[in-house]
Amino acid sequence: MKIAIGCDHGGIVLKNAVNRAIADCGHESCDYGAFTAESVDYPDYAVKVADAVVAGEADLGILMCGTGIGISIAANKVKGIRCAHVTDAFQAQMCREHNNANIMAIGGRITDADTAYKLVKIYLTSQFQGGRHQTRIDKIAAIEAREAGK
Ligand code: RB5
Repeated sequence: MKIAIGCDHGGIVLKNAVNRAIADCGHESCDYGAFTAESVDYPDYAVKVADAVVAGEADLGILMCGTGIGISIAANKVKGIRCAHVTDAFQAQMCREHNNANIMAIGGRITDADTAYKLVKIYLTSQFQGGRHQTRIDKIAAIEAREAGK
């Protein structure tokens, strides 16, 4: 798979660990920046990764900011994105199995690099379970469609 990654200055500390986890899972990462620790605005990177996932240029995405919160909120504004803000292994597993999250967001100021490595590996190796979970995702898409019509 191709995995799009993006971060701001608060998340860049996790980039090496995230790239290592992606490679160790046998996938290719595609880096949409940021590339330095200079202060930047996380929505600019959220939208690049979200657009890549929606366009099919990437299969999944990983976003990083200081907390993972802002960048996940921004990504979830893009139609078709289900971005999960994740802090532990169970969330990393469930966001794929139940929510079919197509982006996972983590925070460089709340999650250390070793944990980030593990979370990405769990996220990339978990499988969506479908069934009743698909029904619920369809309902999320219906909300999205309703909002677009306003
Ligand atoms: C940047 O200082 C910080 O606000 C950002 O990385 C993130 O934590 C926002 O949610």
